[in-house]
Amino acid sequence: MSHEIVEKNTGIMALLIVLVVSVGGLVEIVPLFALTETTEPVEGVEKYSALRLEGRDIYVREGCYGCHSQMIRPFRAETERYGHYSVAGEFVYDHPFQWGSKRTGPDLARVGGRYSDDWHEAHLYNPRDVVPESNMPSFPWLFDNKLDGADTAAKMKAMNVVVGATCPKCDLYSDEDLANAQKTVEGKSEAEALIAYLQGLGTALKR
Ligand code: HEC
Repeated sequence: MSHEIVEKNTGIMALLIVLVVSVGGLVEIVPLFALTETTEPVEGVEKYSALRLEGRDIYVREGCYGCHSQMIRPFRAETERYGHYSVAGEFVYDHPFQWGSKRTGPDLARVGGRYSDDWHEAHLYNPRDVVPESNMPSFPWLFDNKLDGADTAAKMKAMNVVVGATCPKCDLYSDEDLANAQKTVEGKSEAEALIAYLQGLGTALKR
């Protein structure tokens, strides 16, 4: 009977729908504000050094994310191959994150330290020199292009804004870091920066 009243009165029906949707929404959304695991760095995760920050930008520019994910799922087949599954607190300094969604090549979330710098150099210059069956493209220009560091401090400042707004316990760049930014990266090759970036990936949970 009471159901019939609701069905025949659109006003009451609309009101009740709004009520149900609001309660459902609040129950899902409110706890997220108290969740710390997405906004606190896991132990050992450090902010990107100036060189690694430049390296990450090259990773984005070259579209490495189009073939590589950085997200190890909590399945045995993945953890046996790549190591500990990825956790939210590892990505607090990643703006934008590089989780990706396509794996033409292997996941790179924990590639840091897996190979030597020399291996990465050879591999980026021509992947087939070290992995004969590889279909990864060669990136020889990364060895000729040098960083001038003109924008490095500005990039670090931008990171301070986004990281500062989302991660209260994160470490921000100091004035000294900003002042030294250009001279720490100037003259280094893009390959060096990219390799520095790769070598730090996922190392916090590996130790
Ligand atoms: C067209 C797809 C494609 C693109 C784009 C690509 N890769 Fe790869 N990558 C692969 C494939 C396939 C492999 C596996 C074979 C090999 O090791 O070369 C691989 C392997 C790797 C490995 C070794 C991973 C491991 O655990 O053995 C690294 C490191 C890597 N790529 C880095 C990069 C970086 C950095 C970029 C961007 C500059 C990039 N890749 C762009 C396809 C790609």
